[in-house]
Amino acid sequence: MAVLRIGIAGLGTVGGGLLKLAFGRGPLAAAVRVTGVSARTKGRARDVDISAIAWFDDPVALAKSPEIDVFVELMGGSEGTARKAVEAALAAGKHVVTANKALLAEHGAALAKLAAQNGAEIRYEAAVAGGIPVIKALREGLAANHINAVSGVLNGTCNYILTEMDVSGRGFAAVLADAQRLGYAEADPTLDVSGADAGHKLAILSAIAIGGAPNFAAMRLEGIQAIEPIDLESAKFLGRRVKLLAKTSRQGDQVVQSVRPTLLAQDHPIARVNGPLNAVVIDADPVGRLSLVGAGAGAGPTASAVAGDLIDLSHEDSRPVFSGPGQSQTLQAAKGGLLASSKFYVRLRVPDRAGTIAKITDTLAKHLVSIESFLQKPPEDAARVPIVLTTQPMAEHDLLEALGELSRLDVLVEAPVLMPLED
Ligand SMILES: NC(=O)c1ccc[n+]([C@@H]2O[C@H](COP(=O)([O-])OP(=O)(O)OC[C@H]3O[C@@H](n4cnc5c(N)ncnc54)[C@H](OP(=O)(O)O)[C@@H]3O)[C@@H](O)[C@H]2O)c1
Repeated sequence: MAVLRIGIAGLGTVGGGLLKLAFGRGPLAAAVRVTGVSARTKGRARDVDISAIAWFDDPVALAKSPEIDVFVELMGGSEGTARKAVEAALAAGKHVVTANKALLAEHGAALAKLAAQNGAEIRYEAAVAGGIPVIKALREGLAANHINAVSGVLNGTCNYILTEMDVSGRGFAAVLADAQRLGYAEADPTLDVSGADAGHKLAILSAIAIGGAPNFAAMRLEGIQAIEPIDLESAKFLGRRVKLLAKTSRQGDQVVQSVRPTLLAQDHPIARVNGPLNAVVIDADPVGRLSLVGAGAGAGPTASAVAGDLIDLSHEDSRPVFSGPGQSQTLQAAKGGLLASSKFYVRLRVPDRAGTIAKITDTLAKHLVSIESFLQKPPEDAARVPIVLTTQPMAEHDLLEALGELSRLDVLVEAPVLMPLED
């Protein structure tokens, strides 16, 4: 086993966790020697003494340094310095280990090409579900399988918020404010609550599980901002739980990728994964259904994943960047991410006016929406009566047409909320 000389750019939560492992007593300390570091502010206090390590003001210079074999990118961001530095390292033929899902989801295909041209590798176990070794599970443990679908809760912030809303009955804004105070949500939570962060991770999972390169642009993204306590209560009444589900699956010769709030059956392995935890469920042949649950973020879990990649590289274990069980597939990405067939949950708010319910059921019937359950809740006030319904399996496109007509008929006081049901 060769001792790798590594350069670390980014010494924050993950970089700091990695330094602790590199200077600890565990297996990483035996596999690597840190020969260069870079961050934005040289004078900032760090948990590990880095005074004896060469400091680089410019991460791009570190990436190209002849003193490193592997460039470890832990700065973040899909553009700017992180992208330039990773490109520079690969162009210089150096391996890259990164936790940067945004960079790989948006530029993974081009970076993989650059890596191949220069005989370098990119490793990214930490980029998806933090401490859960799902990349290795798919690429190595399940190498002999045909993967039909991978679904998961891939954003701990959203899972924490939905869990707290469920337990306390409080609304999204109040729970988000608490999450920010407790450090579970960023000051600007947009990337998390919009579903984009989970989408970045799903794009990578989809590439290795089903085939192709990461294709973030083709993903359907919906966040949790529109979810209200009434939806969580209604889901419970229906024997289900609402989760922000990231899912990639085969639909004919297409791959459908979406991140959207979904009603999961109570016995679904993800339904009871609560708080900031992440979970991934893989449906594959011949292994069947497999679930992985654990910490999706944090210094220790994420550094564990980065360190695993470094130890692998020190064993000179080599394989193409997005290879996985699905690598021979050339599936097209489905446009729009609409489901061809699913049961759906729909929440409407209507005025407390005679004839409204009849108009709704007539319109749904006209569009062949077959209703499985229909629940009219007590009026919140004269202008707002919540209605919650679930449908039989149907095409999402048809349901959207029916809801579009309802909106035009002026019987809704706000836009409907729509979620698929999963068993
Ligand atoms: N935090 C997690 O639990 C977690 C989990 C999975 C994946 N990730 C990914 O890991 C990466 C790092 O996340 P993090 O949470 O560790 O971030 P962080 O705590 O904000 O740390 C970022 C580090 O990068 C440095 N940096 C930022 N921009 C730079 C620039 N232009 N030039 C030089 N250095 C720069 C910062 O320098 P200063 O220290 O001087 O400010 C800091 O050391 C991101 O891609 C993130 O998505 C994080």
